[in-house]
Amino acid sequence: MSGTFFLTTVSRASKVLGCAPPLRASDMKPEIALVVFSLVIPTYNESQNIRPLIRQLTSALENVIDNYEIIVVDDDSPDGTWKIAEELARQNSHLRIMRRRGEKGLATAVVLGWKEANGEILGVMDGDLQHPPEILPTLLKLMLSTHADIVVASRNVAGGGVSEWSLRRRLVSWGAACLTTLMLPGILRIVRDPMSGYFVIRRSVIPFGDLRPVGYKILLEVMARGKYDTIVEVPYVFEERKHGASKLGPKQQWEFLRHLGRLGWETGQIGRFFRFCAVGGSGVVVNVATLSLLTEIGGLYYLYSSIVAVETAIMSNFVLNEYWTFQDRSNQRPGLRDRLRRLAKFNLLCAVGAIVNVTVLWVLTDLAGVYYVASNLVGLGAATLWNYGLNANITWERAITRNVVTGEDKDGSRWRRICKRWPK
Ligand code: GDD
Ligand code: MN
Repeated sequence: MSGTFFLTTVSRASKVLGCAPPLRASDMKPEIALVVFSLVIPTYNESQNIRPLIRQLTSALENVIDNYEIIVVDDDSPDGTWKIAEELARQNSHLRIMRRRGEKGLATAVVLGWKEANGEILGVMDGDLQHPPEILPTLLKLMLSTHADIVVASRNVAGGGVSEWSLRRRLVSWGAACLTTLMLPGILRIVRDPMSGYFVIRRSVIPFGDLRPVGYKILLEVMARGKYDTIVEVPYVFEERKHGASKLGPKQQWEFLRHLGRLGWETGQIGRFFRFCAVGGSGVVVNVATLSLLTEIGGLYYLYSSIVAVETAIMSNFVLNEYWTFQDRSNQRPGLRDRLRRLAKFNLLCAVGAIVNVTVLWVLTDLAGVYYVASNLVGLGAATLWNYGLNANITWERAITRNVVTGEDKDGSRWRRICKRWPK
């Protein structure tokens, strides 16, 4: 990581949580009293937001946790956010400021902050008050009570949402989700809001050596590369910005595409897609061979042969996908019942895929006047994306424990959860 930064150095305390051996006061210098939680706040031109944010955070955490630090990572904001933050830090011993020069970028700022952090639990939130500080204690408590690896503040579970997004921003967000689900299949089934910039995570989950984030989506990076079994999502409403402006523009959108492509490639998901296409191609060969064998040698009426040929191809595709394309996922649930269940899903989704193919063929040829061979190619492409997208996300879904917090009990103390625990 290039660029320079300044920070007040604190030597690293032992990073054990919960089961830590009792630390005697004499073991520690007073300023390093075991930090268990480090919250990183990336900022760029948030001079009007940083004061109220730190105030709200401090009061939210006050009676919840003592051993925490807040690390503001500022990219040398022209509006002097870092200066205000440094002033605040003089009166607030929990606050540390890193002023990075010569480099910009939300995700890299977060990683830099985490690397310097002392906590065993790490967190991130925006510096513009769009992420409500009040729910931070909930995120932390849930992490401890459910032994979760990651607790995500989520816009896309019941009770969450966005306050006043324009149709355009909603569409962009939806398009991004579709692309994500094709590029990193399974991720949206594990967490409904993988684009969230507000979450807490155990240090052990983050593969520091492998992180190569570009742009904004740090959670996507961590979830695509990290190792975790249990996720909790907590609903929140993304607030309107009151001061300053979002830095999310065309450049960030382009970076998102680059980021997704890089993650898809480096985590082997694009390779998986090619394997799936190769299996599809082999299915065509199986289909043609079965059809001609049954008709020519078996003497069967060609339409009957065709029905058998289609099913034979689906079966051979299934076996190849099960033992090759999705081997890692089918190994998570190798029982016969699970395999049969996947076979049924695959059959069903491929049948719908065939309908997609024919529909596109018909719409383009009959309604748009495209030459039917060209329409068919487009139809085949659409069906391939359909088959891959749905089978990779549903048939061969990844096994994980997923909790969604749906609300508070009447006394406000306990949380009800939807708990989906898949066998490993
Ligand atoms: N250090 C640093 N460097 N901070 C940055 C940079 C940068 O280059 N760019 C943005 N930030 C800071 C902002 O100052 C703010 O505190 C936070 O990162 C989020 O930036 P916004 O520009 O306000 O992003 P947004 O509101 O459009 O989107 C955010 O919220 C979404 C929903 O949770 C981001 O966090 C998205 O990742 C997230 O999906
Ligand atoms: Mn924002």
